[in-house]
Amino acid sequence: MKRILPILILLLSSCASQKHYEPTLKSALADKFYIGTALSPWQLTGRDSLAHDVITRHFNAIVPENCMKSMYLQPREGEFRFRDADAFVRFGEEHDMFVTGHCLIWHSQLPDWFFVDEAGRDVSPEVLRQRMRSHITTVVGRYKGRIKGWDVVNEAIMEDGSYRKSKFYEILGEEFIPLAFQYAHEADPEVELYYNDYNMYFPGKREAVCRLVRELKARGLRIDAVGMQGHIDMFGPSIEEFEASINAYAEAGVKVMITEFDMSALPSPWHRSANISDTISYEQRMNPYTQGLPEAVSAQWNERMMQYMQLFIAHADDITRVTLWGVCDGNSWRNGFPIRGRTDYPLLFDRQYCPKPVVNQLIEELTASNKRARSKRK
Ligand code: XIL
Repeated sequence: MKRILPILILLLSSCASQKHYEPTLKSALADKFYIGTALSPWQLTGRDSLAHDVITRHFNAIVPENCMKSMYLQPREGEFRFRDADAFVRFGEEHDMFVTGHCLIWHSQLPDWFFVDEAGRDVSPEVLRQRMRSHITTVVGRYKGRIKGWDVVNEAIMEDGSYRKSKFYEILGEEFIPLAFQYAHEADPEVELYYNDYNMYFPGKREAVCRLVRELKARGLRIDAVGMQGHIDMFGPSIEEFEASINAYAEAGVKVMITEFDMSALPSPWHRSANISDTISYEQRMNPYTQGLPEAVSAQWNERMMQYMQLFIAHADDITRVTLWGVCDGNSWRNGFPIRGRTDYPLLFDRQYCPKPVVNQLIEELTASNKRARSKRK
């Protein structure tokens, strides 16, 4: 009984015991953009029925949080492991979701062998091109016609607009980006292709990404959208900064996707980065809400989240997808980033899988405005 009691309490207090009401997030946002979430493999099994319920009721787009990164897909050269990725794509198809792949070329979560030869020396540009082509062709080709869009290149440009000095850049120069887009397009001519990055509201980065978009297009390469990750917090960026970048990318001639949205409710060590190598050591004062979010902070969080959602809705002509980086607070990566071991509250659903006030407010406001629009049309 001792063991069962906490589970019983969780079940009774959870939203699963509340009535299943319509509309949901995805139905309320249906004529605006896809509303998505990142998934981890255990969420696909259906064993976590509360998560399963939230995912299938509220979201119509999914992206894999980790299982399609190169270190998981090709841990050793030529040895591909597709089990989790296959399950992820199947899940999207079974639930009629817009399935995005994440990500083909990224300096992080990449297997050690990718840049080196047997003696541990950097490979030549020719060998790296061949490895990129083989990885991209195999992965994109496997899900041809099933995955609808790919984050082709992730996080290649710095806040000041310079190129990240990754091994891709050191060995191939700027050319690695057009090459990745070319290989992906050759592997599936129908699939949408995206450039994805964090801190996309920094003016230097914004200008460099717009230049990149224009250059890819000028060369006749396909690029459909720019992905603005959006790992933000209570201190920044401002709505105006974020909006300036939405406008700039749209003007550069691509769609905009908000691809990894979450908003930390905790004190920020820097306020503005999502570079995963910047983990800062744990400090008690940086983890103040281990027993729950005080009402005043929760109200501020909901208000700021609502402002962001309204911003995205106002730009629905340019924004085709808004994806949250996770389902509920308990399994968000922000509990471990940028400081390990914190209790954070960054997502739309809380630790009991209940919708936060912003979700209900959003649904109500959208339902009312959709109704008004329908009756005007009549
Ligand atoms: C994160 C995952 O959420 C974590 O589980 C993992 O340990 C590290 O990567 N930018 C990205 C995502 O493009 O792939 C990262 O995801 C978060 C930052």
